[in-house]
Amino acid sequence: MSDAILSVEGVSKTFGGLRAVELARFTVNAGSITALIGPNGAGKTTLFDLISGLTKPDQGAIRLQGRRIDGLQPHTIAQLGLARTFQLTRVFAGLDVLDNMLLANPKQPREHLIGLLARAREGHDAERTARARALELLQVFGLEDKAHDYAGNLSGGQRKLLEAARILMTEPKIVLLDEPMAGVNPTLGHRLLNHIETLRRERGITFLFVEHDMDVVMRRADRVIVMAQGSVIADGTPDAVRADPRVIDAYLGGTGA
Ligand SMILES: Nc1ncnc2c1ncn2[C@@H]1O[C@H](COP(=O)(O)OP(=O)(O)OP(=O)(O)O)[C@@H](O)[C@H]1O
Ligand SMILES: [Mg+2]
Repeated sequence: MSDAILSVEGVSKTFGGLRAVELARFTVNAGSITALIGPNGAGKTTLFDLISGLTKPDQGAIRLQGRRIDGLQPHTIAQLGLARTFQLTRVFAGLDVLDNMLLANPKQPREHLIGLLARAREGHDAERTARARALELLQVFGLEDKAHDYAGNLSGGQRKLLEAARILMTEPKIVLLDEPMAGVNPTLGHRLLNHIETLRRERGITFLFVEHDMDVVMRRADRVIVMAQGSVIADGTPDAVRADPRVIDAYLGGTGA
């Protein structure tokens, strides 16, 4: 499938006098693994904030499956099937790992009158299903031994994995990952990437991820979008982007780190 699941159409965001994102325009194909790269300060996280509804664009439109989402609340965008992780992880430090997973589940109990008893039974079934799914995901991410540890006691890398595992509880259509590998040990990092590829293949989930490790980007992404100083400067296959002089300039030109 090559339809656009997400389209960013001439989106800009200014902070004070700083143009953090300027007329960004690109699409993400349904079922793709797309990388978003660029030097530090290029505007990648700001773009994720705009797409996920944390901030609103000054101009432009953002569409999810053809429907405009710019201006909607983050929880509404999440309910439409878009999930994201944060560059600085957000976990509930005072709860254990399993409860962190269960809190992610957005399934609302049905509102219709179906009788108290039936509702209670359904609640139990739903809870059992959620627990089983949470434990399965924790196993995939190598966190099964930590299920009953406080999330606050996890290492930085383990928190990143918990965050990634947690958003998969919500059964999203598209997942935005902001530097999912940062601080994660390489073995678990590759496990995470393998899991992403499995989810794409088996469930058609689309991934857009920010990553600084070029080896990972080149080997794992179908398509690469490159930002520098707020603008999208290149967009194509890993090979095309790697050979693009504008991309080489952006990285060697000292615009960021
Ligand atoms: N809330 C804010 N207020 C003011 N300036 C901001 C805000 N958020 C981001 N910026 C600025 O916008 C620019 C883009 O930042 P952003 O965090 O989006 O970059 P990035 O591409 O994610 O960088 P990195 O690779 O370092 O994570 C930077 O100059 C940053 O300082
Ligand atoms: Mg960032």
